[in-house]
Amino acid sequence: MDHHSKEFQKALSSLIQERRSIRKYKKDPLPKELIEKIILQGCWAPSGKNLQNWRFFVATGNKRDEYLKLSQKSWLSLKDVLQKKLKPSLYEFTERFFFTLGDAPVIIFCYSNNHPEEKYKTSIGSVYMAAENIILTAQAHGLGTCAMGAPLEIKEDVDNFIGKEKVKDLELICAIAMGYPDHVPPAAPRQLEGRITWL
Ligand SMILES: Cc1cc2nc3c(=O)[nH]c(=O)nc-3n(C[C@H](O)[C@H](O)[C@H](O)COP(=O)(O)O)c2cc1C
Repeated sequence: MDHHSKEFQKALSSLIQERRSIRKYKKDPLPKELIEKIILQGCWAPSGKNLQNWRFFVATGNKRDEYLKLSQKSWLSLKDVLQKKLKPSLYEFTERFFFTLGDAPVIIFCYSNNHPEEKYKTSIGSVYMAAENIILTAQAHGLGTCAMGAPLEIKEDVDNFIGKEKVKDLELICAIAMGYPDHVPPAAPRQLEGRITWL
């Protein structure tokens, strides 16, 4: 399809605007080839000095089940803040998500290999750019995702869970839950006014 066509622009716009953070998944496992194909799209993201400093670790099956214990631990660091912010039904739903990860069959841990010649913030930004590519590609394959900063509450534990040797010199940036969606959440409201200032 021609990328400059109105049809493509419409399709891209709906891909972006119809994405939702999914917190309930079908248990169906995803084929390894599909997971790899989606993550490799992340590697086409822009990166500072083209250092491509993203590194991905994928947990499925028993390893994914094992992570639930840590997800529950990360909840302990966040629950008090969230209890004050969220209405009770949403608080309970969020708690359930942390305990089960919504049955997501795949968790992708996104790390940064920070380089001494690259600024810290651009290194981190590059990994988030790759994460967004992954999220939108998953969406285009009928999959749902949820970007998660919660694992940062328990960075050390996540490093140990993956294996200290594997994450040597790397820094955890975020995780992404992925699988076939099992709910259709409403769009989280967006504020479009006041975000752009013309100079
Ligand atoms: C950097 C980042 C961290 C996030 N961390 C979490 C998280 O730990 N747990 C969670 O349930 N959602 C998390 N989210 C999802 C946001 O809550 C969600 O994107 C936001 O509420 C807007 O909803 P939407 O994604 O459905 O449009 C995170 C999103 C981003 C970008």
